[in-house]
Amino acid sequence: MSTKKSNTAKVSIKSSVRKTVSRKVTSIGLDHTQSMELTEKLNDLLANYQIFYMNVRGFHWNIKGEKFFELHLKFEELYNNLVLKIDEVAERILTLGQTPLHGYDDYLSTAVVKPTKNISEGKKAVQSILDAFKVLITKQRVLLDLSDVADDEGTNAMMSDYIREQEKLVWMYSSWMGN
Ligand SMILES: [Fe+2]
Repeated sequence: MSTKKSNTAKVSIKSSVRKTVSRKVTSIGLDHTQSMELTEKLNDLLANYQIFYMNVRGFHWNIKGEKFFELHLKFEELYNNLVLKIDEVAERILTLGQTPLHGYDDYLSTAVVKPTKNISEGKKAVQSILDAFKVLITKQRVLLDLSDVADDEGTNAMMSDYIREQEKLVWMYSSWMGN
């Protein structure tokens, strides 16, 4: 009985706070300030995906040696997957009411993942992929938390899917490396 009373009190305090604080809400009913923060971080994520994507295309083209056929195909599979995520992230930013970065100058100045060139050795390429995944997964975990706080289920579900999928890829690429 007493627990029920205190719950009721909590709800009324919350709703009175909601009434007094006028929040700007987006077209999909999310808090505007939280959405802005999410789109900034999604744009940062997008920049990292774009550089990573181009790096993996380079690995696909330039790889040499006895693992050529295996890695050439594996890297194609990866960049095809990345390009789908790039589109999804960009379109999520639009859905949240902002504009996705779409210039290489912005990607280069924003991304932590740096462009790679002339990598033809399998282990170097795979290590670079593992390093990039660590960056992406870490950034996606931050977005997972922020989107949870903002009640942004759409972004939250995306990040959750990406993290799970890429953690598995990290295991597989690490195994290939013999780690
Ligand atoms: Fe190709």
